[in-house]
Amino acid sequence: MLTRRAVLTAAAGGLAAPALLSLSRADTAKPLPEAPPRVGASATHEVTLEAKARSVELFGADGPKSTLWTYGDELFPILRARRGDRLRATLRNSLAEHTSIHWHGVRVPNAMDGVQYVTQQPVEPGNSFVYDFPLPDTGTFFFHPHCNETGQVGHGLVGVLIVEGDESRPFDDELVLIAKDWRLDADGSFLPFTTDSGAARAGTFGTVRTVNGQRSLTRKVPASADIRLRLLNLDSTRMMDVGVEGAEAHIIAIDGNPLPALPLCSWRLGAASRVDLVLRTPKAGGKVLIRDYFPAEIFDLAELEVEGPDRQAGGFDPAPLYAARLPEADLSAAERQAYVFGAASDSIASFVDTLDPNDPLSKVILDELCTAERTFWAINKRSWPNDGHRKLPPPLARLQAGKSYRFMLQNATPHPHPIHLHGHTFKVLSSSRRNLPVHYADTVLVLPKERIEIAFVATPGRWMFHCHILEHLETGMMGYFANT
Ligand code: C2O
Ligand code: CU
Repeated sequence: MLTRRAVLTAAAGGLAAPALLSLSRADTAKPLPEAPPRVGASATHEVTLEAKARSVELFGADGPKSTLWTYGDELFPILRARRGDRLRATLRNSLAEHTSIHWHGVRVPNAMDGVQYVTQQPVEPGNSFVYDFPLPDTGTFFFHPHCNETGQVGHGLVGVLIVEGDESRPFDDELVLIAKDWRLDADGSFLPFTTDSGAARAGTFGTVRTVNGQRSLTRKVPASADIRLRLLNLDSTRMMDVGVEGAEAHIIAIDGNPLPALPLCSWRLGAASRVDLVLRTPKAGGKVLIRDYFPAEIFDLAELEVEGPDRQAGGFDPAPLYAARLPEADLSAAERQAYVFGAASDSIASFVDTLDPNDPLSKVILDELCTAERTFWAINKRSWPNDGHRKLPPPLARLQAGKSYRFMLQNATPHPHPIHLHGHTFKVLSSSRRNLPVHYADTVLVLPKERIEIAFVATPGRWMFHCHILEHLETGMMGYFANT
């Protein structure tokens, strides 16, 4: 096991990004405490999210203007609620094309999942839709459209949802870091969000990296303080190896799900993944860097400048988060299924009409917005149909609600795929290539030639299952489960 310093030195010395991505679990990892019962009534948070185009100077007054699409007047709005609260969000569509909102990672009732044609009709220009659901879990979540994802997310249509109530003792400060690249030309106009060469490989990368919409991010933080970082990779494509320099840091949650604190070497975040860290800042005058070691040249996600009096006396021993309250899969009784993520094969890319003709969804015409004209990818040799297919394809499987499943996810391509299952939080049991901690997640990165096993308890409804490199889902690497 390399020490953090060794990893950092290797990276700083211009060697390849650290190959060691695993974490050492402290032998003494204590189980997380249970949250005490909630006191006081739960609240309903009413919010209007207007999807609209706005001309924005993305990088300050001297930068070029770009026409972004945002929810309201702010880039990346952050909604906050507490576990047990309700969210009542009205999507108002002021765009020129239809849209919807998917609440990524939130265990919503199926009708609130925001997938056009699968769980709801598209919200047409000028129309509204109300998403109204309880928030069963704490964590760092986000939301985004589920049609023309490269275009709509590419223009900036994404927001953050934080569900509080997991801190057994409040941290001294909190920072939310939203990493997202932009496909911008020098004049501020957008370059094509998707290219054949990108879609058929690791994805089309942005030309400008930002954190919270800024090219470089500096923040003042208190001294000798325990700071919580909520780091979200909301890029359509990018993979990051996140590390912290200048402070000791622990991972305390993955995709919002608490785990016993793990010392951070570097943690690999695929598109759509989130990680919560806690770090102890040094004395006033010190500096902490939050870095991405993945690219050839290290990218600094944020620079923290330490100031003011000490907040904590004594060593770094951050308060644990409260344990997640998730249905626990019964591993011995679970049904095993295998899913292979591979290239499209035309032999099986066409679908037979196996749908019940009385099912209204089978009459839906998949429109061009939701799919690309080309197909490169498949799950178990089946590709999500492009616009030549006029019906919802049959599900990948029909799972039984309440039953436990163990899925083996296998990557048969030379590119990494961050695989996301809607509506469920699964347990990542093992990797064939990496020493991963057992943890809960809603999106798991499957590296080339890697096999990852996950387990979960199925819930009723139609739930999407796809790669979160947006060009991959638009070119075939998407399916769904029809659970009863
Ligand atoms: Cu964030 Cu269907 O995904
Ligand atoms: Cu992929």
